[in-house]
This record gives sequence, C-alpha cells and structure tokens, in this order.
Amino acid sequence: MRTPLAWLVCLAAMAGMLLVQQKIDNRSRRRIAEDRAYVLLTAMEADRHVTSKIIKPALWEEFGKETFVVEAMSSSFGARNVFNRIREQYPDYHFKHSCFDPRNRRNLADAAELEVLNVFLQHTELEEWSGVQVIQDEERWVVAKPIFHKTRCAGCHGNPSDAPQDILETYGSEYAFGRKDGDLIGALLVSVPLQTATGHAPSPWIPQALGASLIVFPFLFALRAGRYTPTP
Ligand code: HEC
Repeated sequence: MRTPLAWLVCLAAMAGMLLVQQKIDNRSRRRIAEDRAYVLLTAMEADRHVTSKIIKPALWEEFGKETFVVEAMSSSFGARNVFNRIREQYPDYHFKHSCFDPRNRRNLADAAELEVLNVFLQHTELEEWSGVQVIQDEERWVVAKPIFHKTRCAGCHGNPSDAPQDILETYGSEYAFGRKDGDLIGALLVSVPLQTATGHAPSPWIPQALGASLIVFPFLFALRAGRYTPTP
C-alpha cells in the first residue's frame, strides 16, 4: 500500500475512534444526569409524602381539622425548605413546584419551565416528561411530573371562604384559589446539568487516537511489506 493511502487509512481510523468515543461519552453523561435527577425527584416526593400523609394527619388528629401550621403541614413548603438544604451541597441542582398561578410566588414557572408545563397541557395523558433543555447556555436533564387539582385540595384551593383563616392571613385570597377537579396546576420539576455528570472531565481523546494508530500502524506495515495479503 502506498504511504499517503496508509496515512489516510490511519487518520480515518483515528477519526472513527473519536466519533465512537464521543457517542459513548454523550450517552453516559445523559444516563448519569438522568439517575441523579430521579434520585432528587424521589427524595422530594418522599418528603412531600411524609408531610401530607404522616405529619399533617397526626396534627389534625391532635388539634382538629381547622388547624393549619404551614411549616408543618404544607408539603410544598416542606419540600422547598428541604431542597434549600440540599442545594447548599449541590448548588447547580434545581427543584421546584413550578406552577402557572402559585400561592407562593417563588413557585411561579419561568420560561423554560412553562415549555414543560405546556407539554402537559397538550398531552393530559402524560404522567411524566423528561429530556434535555438548554437553560442559560447550559444543557440540563429535566424530569417533571404534572400536578392536578383534586377534590381533597378544595379546602385550601377552592373557594377562599372555605380556606383556613391562617392561609388567608399569610397568603391572601388572590392566588391559587377557584380551582376545579382535573385542573393542571403545574409540575413537580427537577433538573441537573449534563456537564457535571462527568465532572467536566475532557474525553480522553489523545490516548484513544494513539490507541487507534497503534492498532492500525502494524497492520499497514505488514501490508506494505507484503507479508500479509487479505483474502477477498
Ligand atoms: C390545608 C391547606 C391545603 C391543602 C388541603 C392543599 N394545599 Fe396546596 N398549598 C397550601 C399552602 C398554604 C401553600 C403555599 C405553601 C408555600 O408557601 O410553599 C400551597 C402550595 C401548593 C403548591 C405549590 C405552588 C403554590 O401555589 O405556591 C401546589 C402545587 C399545591 N399547593 C397543590 C396542592 C394540591 C394538588 C392539593 C391537593 C392534593 C393541595 N395543594 C392541598 C395549602 C394547602
């Protein structure tokens, strides 16, 4: 085989190796980010469950159903504050009860979150959405689950006159009332950056390329020396 052709084959082998490596890198970045996002979402759902299914009923039994202490009885308040502690360790993770018309305005959906909420509006059968969003020039893996209004929510999100006095005093009666069964309120949403999934480590492309040439070179020399003749 002539030398220029040998170099071309060698370069093609290196480029092929790099492409394969890049594909593997991308896939594993996604998988790691996806795993992290699900762990965060599961932890936040578990926290919501503890507040609404264990703490709130226990307090109602003790002090009566008209009692409402937001710090102990609101699952969204609890989960937000738990996540604030998590974020001290993981500042680029994100969790939110992202809503169209929230009672607590911190939960108002931003532009990127609205895109996800609109998917749920258009596909009411979806129980979950996950995928990549580019947010402020950063690729992030997003997982979201829709939140719908149910009959049991009406005491605090239906008619303001039915709501506990404490809620009206703290939040007023302007937001998050007047809902009907099945209304899409928003979504429980988490996201993590794709970059940190590999800790910003550059792909080891130099060793890969050298490896490729180490495999290809002896083969080419063998061809040139005529010691090896490929059978058709
Ligand atoms: C006992 C009163 C009460 C009940 C019942 C209740 N909520 Fe809420 N909800 C609140 C309060 C208070 C807040 C604001 C907490 C905060 O500051 O984060 C809130 C906040 C939320 C939020 C966060 C967004 C926002 O508006 O700030 C969502 C989502 C939500 N509620 C959905 C529901 C759903 C769905 C149900 C029924 C399954 C429900 N709530 C039942 C009192 C209640």
